Amino acid sequence: MLSVPVGLGDRAYEVLIGTRLLDRAGETLLPHLPRKRTAIVTDQTVCDHHGERLAAALEAAGIAVLEVIALPPGEQTKSFEYLADLSDRLLALNLDRGDAIVAFGGGVVGDLAGFAAAIYKRGIDFIQIPTTLLAQVDSSVGGKTAIDTPRGKNMIGAFHQPRLVLADLDVLATLPQRELAAGYAEVIKYGLLGDAEFFAWLEEHGAEVMARKSGPLAHAVARSVQMKAQIVAEDEREAGRRGLLNLGHTFAHALETETGHGGALLHGEAVGAGCALAFRFSAALGLCSQADADRATRGVAASGLPTQLDQVAGHPFNVDRLIAHMGQDKKAEGGKLTFILARSIGDAFIAKGVEPGPLRDFLIAEGAVP
Ligand code: NAD
Ligand code: GLY
Repeated sequence: MLSVPVGLGDRAYEVLIGTRLLDRAGETLLPHLPRKRTAIVTDQTVCDHHGERLAAALEAAGIAVLEVIALPPGEQTKSFEYLADLSDRLLALNLDRGDAIVAFGGGVVGDLAGFAAAIYKRGIDFIQIPTTLLAQVDSSVGGKTAIDTPRGKNMIGAFHQPRLVLADLDVLATLPQRELAAGYAEVIKYGLLGDAEFFAWLEEHGAEVMARKSGPLAHAVARSVQMKAQIVAEDEREAGRRGLLNLGHTFAHALETETGHGGALLHGEAVGAGCALAFRFSAALGLCSQADADRATRGVAASGLPTQLDQVAGHPFNVDRLIAHMGQDKKAEGGKLTFILARSIGDAFIAKGVEPGPLRDFLIAEGAVP
């Protein structure tokens, strides 16, 4: 088992990465549950696969599982409706500030349960047990919690750090291959944004990660979490450097909005395409070499992720609609667009005030239509 510290002073915590962690979850969680009771928040699919095992492990350590709250799987659960439902169910259990809840699932469960924990009785602790690759390498670490509204994704939320993250690689065995690939997009993102050596390692070993070979999978998760933990410790509230984690996200956000945040395009798939587009946009602006942009595109494509607009449902996209969605992005300031662009593989930077003209030309060259 590897422990990656997230250095946030009195809110510091560990991300534990390894195998067979679920079976030992009772003893691991015990120090964080002084009242020896908790509620598990999960989704129905995760519950069906692994819920009993987690509940049994906690109960074997003397922790009372007051309820396993299994919500419907899918992005639509990150809503006011389910936030209200979940909050009410936690209140009915009479949990108080001395308790902690467990978020057991992918990014949807983690974001929703984390936000509920942030506002429940003005804030209780929570523990993340992420079950998708995306959640293990990204969403469970760093304390961003949120729900969506009809006006946009993650628009209502809070920073609320978990007390512990338990990333058991064994639970990924039941994850559909498409979801694994979506999580792999976030793994590649770390190499592209800040670690050229890691990207080169992924070029060589990515197929083994995608085949869930335990050694390469563990390395990919661990290196990703180390990078995220370091960035979060430096810039918890995204005043600067944390923005690099949004590589690919401005393009991704626009594509997800066009495709309707459903099953047609998963968040990680959009991020994969977005990373390739961000590198090609950087090359079009003369910031990075075409060779690096091609290499980034190949790296994303190798795992079966989309890299071109014509591989995304909804193609051909209207260029002005895409740019309008980018203007709604949380990073946009005063109508000016912010992108994470790159000088080379492993060297991304935050570019504020990107002009719409060159962006429009680029998107049209990529297949968007006027
Ligand atoms: P998800 O939570 O919807 O999970 C994907 C699917 O996999 C679901 O159907 C789920 O039931 C299923 N599943 C989960 N674990 C499984 C397992 N072990 N075996 C079988 N099936 C399993 O999606 P996700 O990709 O994990 O997360 C996406 C969400 O994360 C988005 O809402 C996104 O906004 C958010 N996100 C948040 C952050 C953050 O920093 N908070 C970062 C990135 C993404
Ligand atoms: N997923 C981006 C962040 O946590 O900042």
